Amino acid sequence: MEKKIVLSGIRATGHLHLGNYYGALRNFVEMQQEYDCRYFIADYHSLTTQPDASLLNDNVRSILAEYLAAGLDPNRCMLYVQSDVPETCEFYTLLNMHAYLGELEKTVAFKDKARKQPNNVNAGLLTYPVLMAADILQHKAHYVPVGKDQLQHLEMARNFANRFNHFYGCDFLVPPYPYEAKGEPVKVPGLDGSGKMGKSEGNCIFLNDDDRTVERKVRKAVTDMTPTEPDSPMSEPIQNLFVLLRLVAEKSVADQYLAAWNDCSIRYGDLKKEIAQGIIKVISPMRERYEQLYADTDYLNKVRREGAERVRAIVRESLDEMRRLMGIRMF
Ligand code: TRP
Repeated sequence: MEKKIVLSGIRATGHLHLGNYYGALRNFVEMQQEYDCRYFIADYHSLTTQPDASLLNDNVRSILAEYLAAGLDPNRCMLYVQSDVPETCEFYTLLNMHAYLGELEKTVAFKDKARKQPNNVNAGLLTYPVLMAADILQHKAHYVPVGKDQLQHLEMARNFANRFNHFYGCDFLVPPYPYEAKGEPVKVPGLDGSGKMGKSEGNCIFLNDDDRTVERKVRKAVTDMTPTEPDSPMSEPIQNLFVLLRLVAEKSVADQYLAAWNDCSIRYGDLKKEIAQGIIKVISPMRERYEQLYADTDYLNKVRREGAERVRAIVRESLDEMRRLMGIRMF
């Protein structure tokens, strides 16, 4: 049976963190077995909010190196950079003719960003969902792993696909659905006591943080007073530390700390050391590979070139069919 196609895109806005790793990247590595996986770095999308030429190229490089360091294998998946595949832009132009101003203006992410950057409400921001739909539809991807904040964009991609098919009386475009990871979704909490680890929250452990940085960040994590009475409720910051501990430590170790919390003998300093050591064990081998890869310009460029070549051959066919359906041809 043909493998189902999974497409994932990530904007290039800096280093990946532990939340990205447990929430997505670790699954991406596993998914390479079962699916026809295509992973790309959405550098055009990054430009809609952060048109800083001095940062973009390095952000693309670091994500590519981090992806490879985590175990994405260019022989088992397609790995590429959005701007290396110019076919996407043509696909996007064609798709734009079936995207309406009204629906684009109503998009939550658009309204949000327009509010945040009132002096740069550029057309790229408005048509962000169309470019994202082009990314996806040109692959005829079945599934797209997305967080909650991208569900609306994915729904729009489905709408564009269905609308296009209806308009031209075909079933050419494949409406994409969210990829549902197996098991419980993993939520990595931040170190600041509440919520999840996120770049904009400034509470992250980055995959390229060195051991001392990890130790320092975990040492500063928010806690409460050590419990004094058995059966007192556990505060959110401590619950979060236990979530982190369960992610990175052996079950028996985590159980031990929970027992110590329950009988009020826990010392948060020890708990934090355990967490820091666990995190270091997970990320330091990746960081070492990352550093080598990051410095290997020839290899990174080879991955980019070969990735783009494979993807271009595939999306070229979609684009040709798209053009044909829309009546674009030589006399
Ligand atoms: N909008 C996505 C995000 O910010 C990134 C993205 C761009 C994407 N194109 C995509 C994700 C195509 C999946 C598929 O997270």
